[in-house]
Amino acid sequence: MDVQKRILIINGVERAFVCNPEKDSLADVVRRLGLTGTKVGCGAGQCGSCSLLLDGKVVRACIKKMKSVPEYASVETIEGIGTAENLHPLQQAFITYGSVQCGFCSPGFIMSAKALLSENPNPSRQDVRDWFTKNMNICRCTGYKPIVDAVMAAAAVMRGEKTMDDITFKAPGDGRIYGTDYPKPLALTRVLGTADYGDDVALKMPHDALHLALVMPYVHHAEIKKIDFAEAEKMPGVVKVLTAADVKGSNRMLAPQGIVRKYADGKERPVLCDKKLFRYGDVVAVVAARTREEARAAAAAVKVDYKELPAYLNYVDATAPDAAEIHPGTPNCFVEQPLLKGENAGEIIDRAKYAVEGSFSSTREPHLPIEPDAVQAYPTEDGVTVLCKSQFLYGDIAFMADAIGLPKDKIRIAMNHAGGSFGYSMCAASYAIAAVCAMDLRVPVSLVMSYPEHQHFTGKRSPSYTNARLACDEKGKFIAMDYHTGIDHGAYSDFAGALTSKVCRFFGYPYQVPNIRGLVQTAFSNHNHGITYRAFGSPQAYTASEQLVDMLAEKIGMDPFELRYINVAQEGDLCTNSVPYRWYPMKSMMDTMRPHYEAALERAKKFGEPGKKRGVGLAWGGYHVGKSPDHSEIDIELNPDGSVTHYNTWQEVGQGGDIGAMVHAHEALRPLGLKPEQIHLVQNDTATCPDTGSSSGSRSHHVAGMATIDGANQLIAAMKKPDGTFRTYEEMKAEGIPTKYRGVYDSKWADLDPDTGHGWGAMGQNYCLYLAEVDVEVATGKVKVDRMTLVSDIGKVGSYQSVLGQAWGGFSHSLGFALTEDYDDVVKHATMAGAGVPKCNDVPDDMDVIFHESEHPDGPHGSTGCSESYQSSGHVAILNAIANATGARIYTLPAKP
Ligand code: FES
Ligand code: FES
Repeated sequence: MDVQKRILIINGVERAFVCNPEKDSLADVVRRLGLTGTKVGCGAGQCGSCSLLLDGKVVRACIKKMKSVPEYASVETIEGIGTAENLHPLQQAFITYGSVQCGFCSPGFIMSAKALLSENPNPSRQDVRDWFTKNMNICRCTGYKPIVDAVMAAAAVMRGEKTMDDITFKAPGDGRIYGTDYPKPLALTRVLGTADYGDDVALKMPHDALHLALVMPYVHHAEIKKIDFAEAEKMPGVVKVLTAADVKGSNRMLAPQGIVRKYADGKERPVLCDKKLFRYGDVVAVVAARTREEARAAAAAVKVDYKELPAYLNYVDATAPDAAEIHPGTPNCFVEQPLLKGENAGEIIDRAKYAVEGSFSSTREPHLPIEPDAVQAYPTEDGVTVLCKSQFLYGDIAFMADAIGLPKDKIRIAMNHAGGSFGYSMCAASYAIAAVCAMDLRVPVSLVMSYPEHQHFTGKRSPSYTNARLACDEKGKFIAMDYHTGIDHGAYSDFAGALTSKVCRFFGYPYQVPNIRGLVQTAFSNHNHGITYRAFGSPQAYTASEQLVDMLAEKIGMDPFELRYINVAQEGDLCTNSVPYRWYPMKSMMDTMRPHYEAALERAKKFGEPGKKRGVGLAWGGYHVGKSPDHSEIDIELNPDGSVTHYNTWQEVGQGGDIGAMVHAHEALRPLGLKPEQIHLVQNDTATCPDTGSSSGSRSHHVAGMATIDGANQLIAAMKKPDGTFRTYEEMKAEGIPTKYRGVYDSKWADLDPDTGHGWGAMGQNYCLYLAEVDVEVATGKVKVDRMTLVSDIGKVGSYQSVLGQAWGGFSHSLGFALTEDYDDVVKHATMAGAGVPKCNDVPDDMDVIFHESEHPDGPHGSTGCSESYQSSGHVAILNAIANATGARIYTLPAKP
């Protein structure tokens, strides 16, 4: 092996090390030196998370081989530019302006921005956007806008026009942080580069730890005949090749389906495939070796003999009458949910004078976090501990316990710091693989996927195929809607019941449609499996229903705004599930939007760029918050120094599990007069925290908030003396009063009826109205989204920084869903760039979010969850704007030129 001793000046200090200049990248070297603030996401020069400065210039260190790095070159990493006590202005600005969500991209953006500001101390916003686009700095969480805000603010400090104090958050006079821009508690660790994500933990494991690599035969559907690992097991560093024979339990994961019509038991997924391969990303074996490289080399040498079977790669093929059962004994179409509201909608539409119809399809949208999946596990005396980015710690224990052969109470799951997930990490499949290996090998193990492995292994948004119709009377009032939607759920059934139930709620939301007939049917295919993804189920529905509204407006010659205005629900109207809406801000929200819509039309009228057309599009969206019934718990404890600790599993994947818990706890404990620094968060470890439930479906803010209020009220009541003052910790102990309380929330709203779709099905609702302005290049069909305006009602806002982050970030995903993103072609879509991730210049800087803050009647502090609503229908506003500009209606996503 051609290794060399080398010297670099890293963060101003001479560092000597040994490397292989041909093989090692600069990122490998700095990370081995412990400088793991430089993150590796794509590993292929496509995401910029590894950006650092080499002789003052920004480079993507993952593709910079050491052979091209000169001896004594100067390297600057995130660890070298500031400290917790003395932050660089960029680090402070990233904290203050909400530029950090999951934070995985943050060190790369900060280093890239530092290079920009040394070249151009006074950039325009467009200069900043051009720089990040040119240097491939990708953020999947924020929608880029707050990052540009932070760079502009930091630049002003560096020019001496502002002070650090000017760009630091200050609580208002009453000390309240609920409903402010109080920064995310974990942001500091992100901007310093000290947060250890999964791949960082992998570098810091005990000496006996082994590294895992997956054996994926990369075939869509096949019968396994033989797995030959004799040669692989003899390769350097290899300790063992594990197959299904090494799985101690049933080797079948559990995927509960909930209350729907279902024909599968949810136990079709093996931890390691034993008889069949059901999809391209399936795993038949795992190699455990001393290093990741050795494990991957041996995994490539495992020979899998299989007989290929017919592959059904979409809903239509999988549900054809002659299609074989993908999971023998279970019909391919395995879940369904009908929706019956009012009279027979089909007959009404057949007779209606004004009706429109269409067939619409949506894609297998990839989540595209910057961090690929990473998981560690180690054996305990009689169980196993898993470190991962689970969004549902206790749920994942239940999903894998029987499969790996352990009782639930012998499995502990704790979160690593997590790069964004957006829903994909609700699946326990990789946690089960790591657990099986740790239990078998009796040493700590680490599995870090390459980006393509991550793409093929992890679940995606389920594609939809919809035939739908909408009819109105001569005044434009909706009279009936009907639809039939087929959902391609891929090889496995994770959350398919919940998805099927969700889809049928949003055809006709938030309008008054008196008569609806709908049927959503979900089928297995041999493509990648469906999994939760922000807005879960609603984009599929809105793709059809909100385009039909525009089509109907065109048919009857009415402005699409006015058609919506006369049809949105008002007090007393029933929602699509034949129960009242939770509240009725829709008309008032439209009044708020009206001047923005009119201004957009005016801009479109005046638009005169040669070769381009400007379009304006609207779409209603919104979401059901969480599920129902539901249950959530937190613990709250008074400490000897008078501070309080809040224990919860509000899983933090960048969306705000930390800030949400903080603002709720601070608000609920206001009678005690605590400062935010006196509230400590202990989060996301089943060994120390009660079950707060999943971080999904926008439920956490609602349920964890209610449980926090319950726990805080118990603690406050226990501390309260007859004279109205509060006992100290010592007084509580002296009087034998407990200092720790469990806060509980139970939502009692009924679930949907599986035969009619009637019912609440959630503990809350939120509402969003999108306005998109797009330019279409006539010769090429290339679409540029120029501006987005959003009016949203999520009740009272708890944290503006984090809610705006969800809104801008959610819209950036919607834009990708509308125009570029897909995971269909398993070769082309295996990388972040190939799958169509939007870059900085693709997402408009002009994104205006207007909060219509009603007091939520049932939620904590007048609020409810928000996240899903912000990715529900922004894509349809874009599609409607394209149609408005060009007359071309987009039936099939993405809207390629
Ligand atoms: Fe280096 Fe993505 S560009 S990790
Ligand atoms: Fe940028 Fe998460 S904050 S990827």
